Amino acid sequence: MESPRTPLDSAAPTLTVWDLPVRLFHWLLVGAVATAMITGWLAPQWWMGAHLWSGYQVLALIGFRLIWGFWGSEYSRFASFAYGPGETFAHLRALVFLKSRHAIGHSPAGAAMIWALALLLAGLVASGLVMAGGEEKQGPLAGIASYQWGMAAKALHGPLALMLLGLIAGHVLGVLIESRLVRENLVLAMITGKKRLTLSPPENIRSARPLPTLLALAVMAVLGAGSLAALARLPPTGIYELAANPVYAKECGACHHAFHPSLLPASSWQGVMAGLADHFGEDASLPKAQAEAIAVWLIANAAERWDTEAANRFRTLDPAQPLRITATPYWTRKHRDLPKARFAQKAVGGPANCNACHRDAATGLYADQEIRLPKETNL
Ligand code: HEC
Ligand code: HEC
Repeated sequence: MESPRTPLDSAAPTLTVWDLPVRLFHWLLVGAVATAMITGWLAPQWWMGAHLWSGYQVLALIGFRLIWGFWGSEYSRFASFAYGPGETFAHLRALVFLKSRHAIGHSPAGAAMIWALALLLAGLVASGLVMAGGEEKQGPLAGIASYQWGMAAKALHGPLALMLLGLIAGHVLGVLIESRLVRENLVLAMITGKKRLTLSPPENIRSARPLPTLLALAVMAVLGAGSLAALARLPPTGIYELAANPVYAKECGACHHAFHPSLLPASSWQGVMAGLADHFGEDASLPKAQAEAIAVWLIANAAERWDTEAANRFRTLDPAQPLRITATPYWTRKHRDLPKARFAQKAVGGPANCNACHRDAATGLYADQEIRLPKETNL
């Protein structure tokens, strides 16, 4: 099916090759992936919400494309571009020698690219879901993925995203080269759906199968959304209901933010509570019974008990200042780009007032989306 009638046959009839759902799928995917890349690499951390949503959109689009690969119209179906390695290799060789080999639907090289892109996207969505669940305790896998899983997925997510960027560059380059070789604007074809017919199409072009498609879509959507919703209802792993402690909130919240107990390990809390008379240069002494009760509560709910990102990170202390959250390597690294004046501004009142910038400080979660810096005008 690869013998062009004439190199440039302007009178050639056109054929709608890409049906509307496939075109929509393609450009929505472009939008979702672009959003994911911008919010993943360039935007500040508090755009994480948009990043997660673009990931969910990619997931939904992949789900749709799987269905459409079986029920869509002729050239959307996987069967129409399931080329063997021999055909793919022959096509790539022709491309290297800049020979045109027109295909009505996806060319073998295009098909290979699509499978590679699809695999990478699936890997990115999967690792992203495990990361969000394990590290951030967000999304449908929060009840399943531990922090350790999240870290393992994180090690994959970045490199996969870089590979995707490389493949996208290859895909665009391939489309431009093929467009020249076959003298057909393939980008335009993905917008209008139409290609010039310089090859005889197969005898029986099959159009979409509307009814089963709708049914399949409905069933898949319900099953997919249902299972994600069911997973999302599981309580997040390693997060506990923390019994309120009004005495702690009042006494230890008098001079600075009353830190969530998960932010330091038990040994640090023990050290803080043992030295209240000389507390970072202040006298923060409390009646003995009160101090003891607070110490018991802090130690029982210390970092060791939790599996949040903050609890895992702040367990690594600065040996020289083991009582400080703000001296831990992670805290220092995360806040080193903020100018000192930011912490000194009146609306903040020092680095120990975590809640001035972290709207969820009281929960100990410290989610990326909940970071808001106070206005600079108050400096
Ligand atoms: C009289 C005021 C005062 C009271 C009351 C007080 N603190 Fe502090 N606390 C301070 C000061 C001042 C610092 C040092 C802040 C700085 O360097 O930015 C500090 C620092 C800390 C830090 C280290 C913060 C960091 O830099 O990571 C911890 C932990 C802490 N306090 C726990 C407690 C606990 C627990 C209580 C209640 C038993 C308490 N504080 C009550 C004044 C107070
Ligand atoms: C002046 C504002 C400000 C204060 C005060 C502040 N932070 Fe932050 N924090 C930030 C910003 C901004 C970031 C994001 C930095 C980045 O882009 O990587 C951040 C990041 C973090 C992160 C990493 C979040 C993630 O998921 O990557 C943690 C955890 C954190 N802060 C904890 C704390 C704790 C605990 C305190 C108090 C002891 C505190 N912060 C005080 C502004 C602040």
